[in-house]
Amino acid sequence: MASNPFERASSGRSQWQSRAGFILAAAGAAIGLGNIWKFPFITGQNGGGLFVLIYLACIALVGLPVMVSEIIIGRAAQKSPVAAYNGLSGGKTIWSLVGWVGVTAGFILLSYYSVVAGWSMNYIGLALQDSFTGRDPKEITGLFVGLVQDLPRSILWHGVFMGLTTAIVLIGVRRGIETGVRIMMPLLLVFMVGLMVYAGTLPSFTTALDFVFSPHSDRLTAGGVLEALGHSFFTLSVGLGGLITYGSYLNRNDDIVAASTAITVLDTFVALVACLVMFPFLFAVGAEPTNGPPLIFIAMPIAFSQIPGGALWGIVFFGLLFFAALTSAISLLEVVVSTLIDQLKIGRKLATVVSGGGIFLYGILSAKSDLQIPGIEATGPDFLQQMDFFVSNVFLPLGGLAITIFAGWVIPRSTSYEEFNSAKQRDRLYRGWLFLVRYVVPLAIVTIFLYSVLHNLQL
Ligand code: PFF
Repeated sequence: MASNPFERASSGRSQWQSRAGFILAAAGAAIGLGNIWKFPFITGQNGGGLFVLIYLACIALVGLPVMVSEIIIGRAAQKSPVAAYNGLSGGKTIWSLVGWVGVTAGFILLSYYSVVAGWSMNYIGLALQDSFTGRDPKEITGLFVGLVQDLPRSILWHGVFMGLTTAIVLIGVRRGIETGVRIMMPLLLVFMVGLMVYAGTLPSFTTALDFVFSPHSDRLTAGGVLEALGHSFFTLSVGLGGLITYGSYLNRNDDIVAASTAITVLDTFVALVACLVMFPFLFAVGAEPTNGPPLIFIAMPIAFSQIPGGALWGIVFFGLLFFAALTSAISLLEVVVSTLIDQLKIGRKLATVVSGGGIFLYGILSAKSDLQIPGIEATGPDFLQQMDFFVSNVFLPLGGLAITIFAGWVIPRSTSYEEFNSAKQRDRLYRGWLFLVRYVVPLAIVTIFLYSVLHNLQL
């Protein structure tokens, strides 16, 4: 039955069909624009190496433990975020509030995520028309400028993307999406690695390798450290409670730690490969990787304008990017919809249409983008980047802080122990995780957050 993607467990709660189903859905949520669009451009803006190193440390020491925490909370509570906090904390209002803040973050995140996904849909069209072949980098930059300055076109593609996401959640073809992820994700991996191998033949590849992996600190600021932390949440889809819902569908015997580790490794691999695809082409034409959100829409078409069969590569690349964005967007919309259903006791259809419509309308503000593009005068503050700043660098880290405090201090140790081990005996690993979520993660988040705020206020 298309509308029920899960099997009913004896407890009455739906469950993933298999462990692979969960990993695929969570990997589909994790791998998206964050890996291929955002990570390369923030790495470029923050000067490479040292930023990447801090990011990797944040992924391993903060992001992964938070992911495990979210799934533990979800499976222990068997509910969506707000209800899960409520249930496990004995009805304390403050924790419900944390759930709601997460849902708000999801709403805002999807509003601008959809705008960028809309751009990638437009770029599929440009590739289909063979718009990159024979163009120089300046003309390729012009294509992007033309898109973001054409408000009706930006809103149209944002609308198409949001409409599609809403329709998928509405008609419940998640099983189809799972099958899609099964095919498209490996394809994305193979394709990205293929592009990287091609980029490896360029003389500029070693410069790119050095840029990404040598820990030089020329451009890293306090804000950059916060950005690395925030992105570790963004890319793993943690901090807003989305994986609480996913965890609630997870089978009792499935290994949360192994699944989280697999998702994290895969996600990080894609992000690093994306950098090693984009930077060689940028460096080859003497461009700097500092132009922010437009980077992918400039670097990749430059690549496709030069390589044999570039038009075809372009269609496949932007097609896969669109698909990766779609699976992430579905999971984001699910967070909002499932909470509205549970908390406001409204039907699924109404909840989906109201959420999708609201997100579309709010996203129009981000579509009206005054992005700073080199050589083009910016006309005002850029709403899209401001929203991304608040979500990634404020909402998600603070959400992550709350989640680890909840998992480490609020829920009984016996509960987290049982969920962590999933019928295996791993006392030392559990103690390590508990130490991280009780002390290391909260301290790291608070320190990086305050350091960055104080630094910005020049205190
Ligand atoms: N992790 C996604 C990406 O990297 O593109 C973005 C995302 C999806 C964040 C779902 C949060 C979320 F709940």
